[in-house]
Amino acid sequence: MSNKNIQSLRGMKDLVDEQSQLFTYFIDNATQIAKNYGFSYIETPILEETALFKRSVGESSDIVNKEMYQFIDKGENDVCLRPEGTAGVVRSFIQDKRDRAGGVTRWYYYGPMFRYERPQKGRLREFHQFGAEVFGVSSVYEDANVIMMLKDILEFFGIKFNLLLNSLGCKECMPTYKTNLVQHLSSFRSELCEDCDRRIETNPIRVLDCKNEKCQSLLINAPKITNNLCERCDTDFEKLKEILDFNGVNYEVDSNLVRGLDYYSQTAFEFISDEIGAQSAIAGGGRYDRLVEFLGGRETPGIGFAIGIERLLELVQVKEQNKEVVYVGALCEEALNTAVKVANEKRKTTKTFIEYTPRGFGKHFKLAEKQNTTVVALIGEDELKNGTIYVKNLLDKEERTIKLEDF
Ligand code: HAM
Repeated sequence: MSNKNIQSLRGMKDLVDEQSQLFTYFIDNATQIAKNYGFSYIETPILEETALFKRSVGESSDIVNKEMYQFIDKGENDVCLRPEGTAGVVRSFIQDKRDRAGGVTRWYYYGPMFRYERPQKGRLREFHQFGAEVFGVSSVYEDANVIMMLKDILEFFGIKFNLLLNSLGCKECMPTYKTNLVQHLSSFRSELCEDCDRRIETNPIRVLDCKNEKCQSLLINAPKITNNLCERCDTDFEKLKEILDFNGVNYEVDSNLVRGLDYYSQTAFEFISDEIGAQSAIAGGGRYDRLVEFLGGRETPGIGFAIGIERLLELVQVKEQNKEVVYVGALCEEALNTAVKVANEKRKTTKTFIEYTPRGFGKHFKLAEKQNTTVVALIGEDELKNGTIYVKNLLDKEERTIKLEDF
C-alpha cells in the first residue's frame, strides 16, 4: 500500500477556520429568518434510491444524465448521493402520508449535495444548500412569500442580487408551448448543439437556457412561454408580479429561465449576482404542483427554493455585531478556582475564554488580544481578599475594580 498523503477528492472541500465560522453564522441567521416565516426543520438522508431523482429531477436533466454519484450498495440497491434537496423532502412528505392529511407544511433544511460536475470557481462536487419547501398552498401569494423570505435572507447578509422571474405554464399550456417551440426549432435542428438536439426529444424547453451562443441565436425569434400561457397561468403570473411590485421587490422577467430540473410548473425564479463569476446563480426555485402526484402521492401543490451556500459565502461579510468577548484570568494560583467559576457563570450569556495558567498582567493582555477579546477580567490576591474583580474594556479602555457579583 502506498504511504502517500491522502488528499480530499476533487471538487470537495474541508470547512475550517474562517469559512466554517462564516458557514455557521449563515446557518444560524438563515434559520432564524425561516423560523420567523413559520418554517420548521427537516433532515432527510443524504443517500436515497436512484429512482427518486430520475423520477423527480428528471431523466432529461444534466443532473440525472451526467452528474449523479450513483452506485450499487452491498444489498444490490441502486442508490445515489442526493444532488439536491427537494426530491428527498417530497419523498418524506409522501412516506409520512402528509399528502393525505391535508393542511400546510413549511420545512427548511440544509446540508451537503453532490453533483459530478467539472469543478471550477463556484462549482463544486460536494456543495451545501439551504432550502425551503412549502406544501398545500396553491395561492400565488405563497410564491411571493417564498421569494420574499429568500430575499430577506440574502439582504440580511448584505448581498446584492438580481431576481429573474418566469412562468413555465401548467399541464394545460406547457405541452402546446413545447409543440410550438419544437416547430420553430425543427428548421434549424442541424445547427443545434449536441445536447439541444437531444433536448428536442426529451424536454425541448431546456433548449431555452442552453449557454451555447449558436443555440441562443436560433432562439431570437422563437415563441416566448410568457406569451403562450393559458388564462389561469397568465392571471397568476400577473398577480405574482403585482404582489412583488406592491412589496417593493424588484425583478426582471426572463422568459428563457427554465431551470435545470424537470419538476417545475408555473413560477420559476433565480437570484443571480454579477460578483461571483460565471456561476452567477446564488439561489433558485419555483413551483412544482405535480411532483407529489408524480412520486406517487395525492396531488398537492408545492413551491420552494435552495441557496448555494458556498456561492453565497463568497459575498458575505460577518456583520459587526459589537459582541462582547470576555477573557478571564488568574494573577496567582489561589485565584484560579474563582476565575474558573466566574468564567462559567459569564459563559451563560457571553462568549468567554478562561486562561488556566496564572500569569502576570501583561502576559494576560497579550493572550487576550489574540482571542479578539473586548473585556479582560483578572483576579489576583487583593481581589480574592476583597471579593472583587479587575475589569478592563479594551474598546473604550476603561478600567475598574468592581464587586464580583456586579460582573
Ligand atoms: P438548483 O438551481 O439546482 O436548484 O440549485 C440551487 C443552488 O445550488 C444554485 O443556485 C447554486 O447556488 C447551488 N449549486 C448548484 N450546483 C452547485 C455546484 N455544483 N457547486 C456549488 N453550488 C451549486 C435546486 O437544487 C432545487 N432543489 C431548488 C428548489 C427547491 N426548487 C424548489 N425547491
